[in-house]
Amino acid sequence: MDTGNSARGSFGSQLGVILASAGSAVGLGNIWRFPTEVGRGGGAAFILIYLGFILLLAMPVMLCEFIIGRSARSNAIGAFQKLAPGKPWIAAGIMGVLGGFLVLSFYSVVAGWTLHYTIQSALGQLQGQCSMFNGQSSMDFGAAFNVFVSDPWQPIIYLAVFLLLTHLVVARGIQHGIERYSKLMMPLLLVIILLLVCFSLTMPGAAEGVRFLLQPDLSEVTPDVVLGAMGQAFFSLSVGLGCLVTYSSYFSKETRLVNSAMNVCIIDTMVAVLSGFIIFPTVFSVGIAPDAGPGLVFITLPNVFNLMFGEMPVVGYVFALLFYVLLLLAALTSSISMHEICTAFISEHFQTGRRRAATIVTLICLLLGAFCSLSFGPWQEVTVFGKGFFDLFDFTVTKFLMPLGGLLMTLFVGWYLDRRLVEQQLTNDEALSVRTMRPLLVLIRWVAPIGILVIFLNELFPLFI
Ligand code: ALA
Repeated sequence: MDTGNSARGSFGSQLGVILASAGSAVGLGNIWRFPTEVGRGGGAAFILIYLGFILLLAMPVMLCEFIIGRSARSNAIGAFQKLAPGKPWIAAGIMGVLGGFLVLSFYSVVAGWTLHYTIQSALGQLQGQCSMFNGQSSMDFGAAFNVFVSDPWQPIIYLAVFLLLTHLVVARGIQHGIERYSKLMMPLLLVIILLLVCFSLTMPGAAEGVRFLLQPDLSEVTPDVVLGAMGQAFFSLSVGLGCLVTYSSYFSKETRLVNSAMNVCIIDTMVAVLSGFIIFPTVFSVGIAPDAGPGLVFITLPNVFNLMFGEMPVVGYVFALLFYVLLLLAALTSSISMHEICTAFISEHFQTGRRRAATIVTLICLLLGAFCSLSFGPWQEVTVFGKGFFDLFDFTVTKFLMPLGGLLMTLFVGWYLDRRLVEQQLTNDEALSVRTMRPLLVLIRWVAPIGILVIFLNELFPLFI
């Protein structure tokens, strides 16, 4: 087994490994997208399907990424060049880096909106908006949101600030940047979540929201919901793009891959479910429908916070502020990992310094992100394959690059890589006994690729008829 190349940088501790990888996973996907999908997909029924996909499909892909990254100790493209020189497997790495640019671009637009809402809630302006629009209905927040996102400049400025924050962390390197800030931000994020869950569960009528989350309503489960659950599992764990190939290239030879993957899956799922426990009891307690789509966080919740302001002004203010800070922290820990896929590739492939590579990535994503942002405003009519830039990037990554990347990685590790190398990686050169080795290999070789392929084809098929 490779012992590593310290010139590339490495994580300094097992805690750093877990918090950075969990940071990559925990993001807007958990707090913004997960509750939205749960709201649409019949509450607990969706959660059960989602958990199945995490365990059977997404976790094996994560393990494959760890195996590829730590054995090659290279960026997402370089790893395939090293492990399979001259072979077409490199396509998986290329798709990953391309996907990294696309995700970071559209993701940072939503993160920029979050920054705007964080500042607004800090200034107490979420309450102010109501009087600005002369009323109390959620329509007012809908109007305010639409005015904001369709503005040609404001969201781009927030996007630029958010990308700059991401850039500053990545440019500092692995231990001083990514690991250090993950160790700071992840515990803070977990504390805020627990505080908000406590707040939320004590709201009058919260039980209705808890019931919605815990009672499966199978009548809502359509093929679309099942597909949505797989997309969500992949997006939420950041698998299929090579984020974790890149991160694991900085793992030490003592890092326990199976243990780390399980911990990351547990933390990520816990945060997603707890976000549901924050959002649904609150939403139900003020009598608003939970299935408000992506507007849930930016339209429904401000409305909820506003109603709370009326009853308990201080609680409403603190709740709103903590919620948006939480969302912002989660976005940042994930965007850092997307940035790192691209930065590591540019820095190693073009043999340039990390700071310069990071600057190139930031500037490209600023440009692409501006396209995405404009697709909510002046460029609403500009479409490619019938989609605006934001939807196009989102679709390309979540419906195409992530599942296809995940499929290729499981096939690569399960069928192409030498079985001994795979076992050496999982057991740290036989220093550990991994009792789940056989089931894990079955998941990697059979269950995950077949499952991903079936779902992927099902999803693409309607495109071609
Ligand atoms: N895994 C990241 C998220 O859930 C991208 O937001």
